[in-house]
Amino acid sequence: MTVKISQTAETQAFFKEAAGFANNDGNPRIKKIMFRVLNDLAKLIEDFDLTEDEFWTFADYVNRLGKRGEAGLLIAGLGIERFLDMRQDAIDAEIGQTGGTPRTIEGPLYVAGAPVAQGSTRMDDGTEDNVATVMFLEGQVLDLDGKPIAGATVDLWHANTKGNYSFFDKSQSEYNLRRRIITDSEGRYQARSIVPSGYGCDPQGPTQECLDLLGRHGQRPAHIHFFISAPGYRHLTTQINLAGDKYLWDDFAYATRDGLVGELVFREGGARGVSERCAELRFDFQLQKAADNKDEQRSHRPRALQVL
Ligand SMILES: [Fe+2]
Repeated sequence: MTVKISQTAETQAFFKEAAGFANNDGNPRIKKIMFRVLNDLAKLIEDFDLTEDEFWTFADYVNRLGKRGEAGLLIAGLGIERFLDMRQDAIDAEIGQTGGTPRTIEGPLYVAGAPVAQGSTRMDDGTEDNVATVMFLEGQVLDLDGKPIAGATVDLWHANTKGNYSFFDKSQSEYNLRRRIITDSEGRYQARSIVPSGYGCDPQGPTQECLDLLGRHGQRPAHIHFFISAPGYRHLTTQINLAGDKYLWDDFAYATRDGLVGELVFREGGARGVSERCAELRFDFQLQKAADNKDEQRSHRPRALQVL
């Protein structure tokens, strides 16, 4: 028989004490949230009649998740990062702040401070010249009327052919496949890079361990991440996910959305000064007007910083 004591006056008083309600220090908002967490956790323990072994396995899991730095990955995998976007979309719809390129999740692998280029740049360091397909990525940043936005910052990052990101993969050079491109007078940006590969969670890591228990894979389709920003416009966090990838609509992180699928067009050798077959990807972004200064900026989520 399940005994339930979490809602008794005695337990509630105990949780209030544990959440700091009895003192005047600390942070009132955090106290309220913690009180709710304690209550929800207690109810969960009671409703599922959690065993001691199950509970301490969970505590150990949290430790291992942190040690591996995979909290951001698990949040994406459980759809919570997608939920944050769904909620923001719903808020936007409510206040009529809609239109333009859809947002999608950032993921945990952005690194600030990538090299800045005017108009066009090469993103790869050439180390995969013999294995990668060269990709020419280009497009325009536009407003909702289709007018070009000059001086917008296209901050983009993607994986290499092994599905790994520079900074986190120490075998790659600094800022490989990470750039900031400032759009020209026609709002254009252009990058020569390599076609990225999709990737999966580390099969030995705690995120995949959780996904295994849910009967789910941890794979993502090939994709390119973007932060697009410009003075007077609303910051956009988004991705292009590549058409034809097996995981395009079966993304463990739920990042693929209508309007964010990019189609590679392959050109035979000799095109664009490249002797081998190369790929072209054209993608335009449309930004909403910013309601205020805060709107122009990305979230203050703690991110990895390149150590100089
Ligand atoms: Fe990614």
